[in-house]
Amino acid sequence: MLNLPTPLIFALLAATRGVYAQLPRPLINYPLGLSPVFDEGFFAGTTAPPATILQWAPGKAPQACVNELAWNNCQSGHAVVYNVTYADCPTPWIMCRCDNADLSIYQMTNFFGRMPVHLRSTVRHVMATHGEGCSAYAITGPEDGDIVMQGNCNTQSVWLHETGHQLDARGLGNGIGFSTSSTFINALWNDTCVADDYGNTALWEEFAQMTVVSQSHTIYGYIQQQQYPGCFDSQLNALETAFKTSHLTYGGTCNSRIPSTPTVNAVWKRGRIDRRGGQRIGPCKFDHLVGGHKH
Ligand SMILES: *[C@@H]1O[C@H](CO)[C@@H](O)[C@H](O)[C@H]1NC(C)=O
Ligand SMILES: *[C@@H]1O[C@H](CO)[C@@H](O)[C@H](O)[C@H]1NC(C)=O
Repeated sequence: MLNLPTPLIFALLAATRGVYAQLPRPLINYPLGLSPVFDEGFFAGTTAPPATILQWAPGKAPQACVNELAWNNCQSGHAVVYNVTYADCPTPWIMCRCDNADLSIYQMTNFFGRMPVHLRSTVRHVMATHGEGCSAYAITGPEDGDIVMQGNCNTQSVWLHETGHQLDARGLGNGIGFSTSSTFINALWNDTCVADDYGNTALWEEFAQMTVVSQSHTIYGYIQQQQYPGCFDSQLNALETAFKTSHLTYGGTCNSRIPSTPTVNAVWKRGRIDRRGGQRIGPCKFDHLVGGHKH
C-alpha cells in the first residue's frame, strides 16, 4: 500500500495502468498470510550475531530519525539513539526508538541481526515507535533506506518484509526497483498466484512477501504448506536468480553500507518537520502474527 492522498493514488493508477493490470492475481498461496507458515521456522533456523549496543547521550539524533520520530508523534526529547555493532560488520547501524516504543533495543537488534549481513546492508537506519498492533513502513527513496516498526512487530516475517522493500529498491544498485522491472512483472504474469492477500495489493508488496518466502527457501531448501504448490515459482526463481547469492545467503561481512544521516539536535515541534523527498512504502498493517519472541 502507498500512504498517499487519494487523488494522488488515482493519478498514479492512471499513469501506470499497464503495470497495475497485473494485479490482483486469482489465486492466493497463503490465505492466512505468511507469519503462521514461516515465523516459527525463522525463529528456530536463524540466530543474530553477537552485537554491542551503545546508547548515545541525549539531545542528538540522526536527521532521518528526527524526521520519522516527529512524524510518528514521538515527543521531542523522547528519542533514544543507539549504535548497534554486529560481529560481522565493523560499522554500526544507528537505530532509534521513541522511549515508549513497543520493541526494546534488544528485540530490534535481535530481529534485524537474524537477517544475512548483505540483506541488512540495504537498510540505513532502523526505527521503532509505539503503535496499536503492528504496522511498519520502509522509506525507499534514493536518499533514504530506513525501516520503521510501529507497534509490537515481534516477528521475523515483518522485518523481512520491510527489508524486502529496501532490497527491491536497492538490490540492483541502479536505482530501478526490481518489482517494477520487466523481469519480475513477466515472472508474476507467468505465475498463477501471489503469496498472500497483501501481495495482491501492489507489485512491491508481492515482492516484499516473496522476499520472506525466498529467505525461508534459502534456509530450509523447500517451501512450506503451499495451497497451490509451484504456483509462484517463476517469481521465486526471478527473485532468487537476482538476489539469493548476493543478499539472502548467510555469511561474509558487510561490503557496502548506506552512510548514516547527519547528527542534528533531537529537538522538534510537532508538525514542523519537513518530510519531503522520501518515498514511503506502507504503512503495512500486519495481522495474525505468530511465533513472536520477547527478549
Ligand atoms: C556511533 O557510531 C558512529 C559511527 O561509527 C561514531 O562516530 C560515534 O562516535 C558512535 N557513538 C557512540 C556513542 O558510540
Ligand atoms: C514461465 O513458466 C514456464 C513453465 O511453467 C517456465 O518454463 C518459464 O521459465 C517461465 N518464464 C518466466 C519468465 O518465469
